[in-house]
Amino acid sequence: MGDLITMDDLTNEEILQVLDSARRLVPVAKGEVYLPLLQGKVLGNLFFENSTRTRMSFEAAMKRLGGEVLNLSSVGSSVAKGETLYDTMQMVDGYADIAVIRHPNQGAAQYSADAVEIPILNGGDGAGNHPTQTMLDLFTIREAHGSLEGLNVVMVGDLRYGRTTHSLSHALVRFGAKITLVSPDALKMPDEIVSDLKNHGGEITETEEMSSSIDSADVIYMTRIQKERFPDEDEYMKVAGIYKLTEDDLSEAKSGMIVMHPLPRVNELHASVDSTKHAKYFQQAFNGVPTRMALLCRSLGIDIPEVVK
Ligand code: NCD
Repeated sequence: MGDLITMDDLTNEEILQVLDSARRLVPVAKGEVYLPLLQGKVLGNLFFENSTRTRMSFEAAMKRLGGEVLNLSSVGSSVAKGETLYDTMQMVDGYADIAVIRHPNQGAAQYSADAVEIPILNGGDGAGNHPTQTMLDLFTIREAHGSLEGLNVVMVGDLRYGRTTHSLSHALVRFGAKITLVSPDALKMPDEIVSDLKNHGGEITETEEMSSSIDSADVIYMTRIQKERFPDEDEYMKVAGIYKLTEDDLSEAKSGMIVMHPLPRVNELHASVDSTKHAKYFQQAFNGVPTRMALLCRSLGIDIPEVVK
């Protein structure tokens, strides 16, 4: 019940409840209010792939709520000695009350959840899913636009390997979004995901060209080309640097349009965008803290007070 592996683990109503909780927790996330709801609880932070935001914001979320964190990475653990994921998870089951796992293999989060009793949160499984990122993305969109309903969202970049867009597009079509998928042919959103989006009533447009989608967008979601998932460097070089969003591209954008990026950025999002009113990606990264607080509480069955004082 407490697992979060894909966005299918949450109903639309549950998504909105978590987002409401996250909003109440913003003062706690900022450190203005101390609310030790998770005192005595231990989070296992299991990162078998690089991470800055997901790992640190989960740790910040846990600590701001009075909880403790155990960190495990593939470097410095018995994973380097050949210990299996199954065995590692048996240890975590005994040491922690809940765990977040990031792993290069698609399906590893579900596999881990099946192996243990404690709730498992998927912090990114290969080119699969990244639902906690989606929750903070939805939080960011809802705070900016007041609602998740019926938005015009443009997703740009590596839609083939980019797990953030896989989870986010699925969630958004459930709220009636119209989505434009911008990528080179080699990095198109996988067919099964596009079919899923259409089956959920999503109005989906696929194109290789970015600029014509900008002016009507409510959200532009830029993504990094996922170099580490390419079978060889030559294939990566063919598409590296293919999209670059700059301040000049935004001259005709809607006034309330927001530019998002899960980060890290490489060269697809120029620093000139940072000082525009559209830039939301650093705020988005902060939003990981209250959103992950709300998700941790949900998975652990802890109620969040209506008014946080
Ligand atoms: C993303 C990821 O790991 O999928 N980063 C993140 O969690 N904020 C995006 C990426 O690595 O490009």
